[in-house]
Amino acid sequence: MSLPRWAYLVLAIVLAGVLLFFVRMHMASGQDARGNAEAGRLSVQAWCTECHSVQLETAGTGKFAPDFTVIAQRRPARWLERFLRSKHTLMPDFVFNRREADDIVAYILSLKRG
Ligand code: HEC
Repeated sequence: MSLPRWAYLVLAIVLAGVLLFFVRMHMASGQDARGNAEAGRLSVQAWCTECHSVQLETAGTGKFAPDFTVIAQRRPARWLERFLRSKHTLMPDFVFNRREADDIVAYILSLKRG
């Protein structure tokens, strides 16, 4: 059986697409969160330092709220996403959209050791 030349081209493009899809899936599964940690860092510098220590360098200097380095050790991404988008008693209720919340979670988890 011989196929026209364009059919091989189409086949090659489809295979490349499938391959790319699996590579991306694999890369995503290696991360704890889908957000952008650098964008998250800028948000937490702006909003959270009043009460939390948000960096490795300042660990232990938070006012009365837990350090982000400590939070990173004990909370998984799913828990943090839910916390950031729910109501709190001691902490202000920030209103973050999905992307902002993902970025903050990615930043917090980037502080995780081991
Ligand atoms: C006005 C002070 C204040 C600010 C500002 C603040 N927090 Fe908090 N946060 C707290 C307090 C107090 C707690 C502990 C009590 C609680 O869990 O509600 C807390 C708890 C948390 C926890 C849960 C910790 C755990 O493991 O139980 C997370 C996550 C968190 N804050 C993230 C943030 C982020 C992200 C910001 C900035 C966008 C922020 N906080 C800004 C006071 C604050």
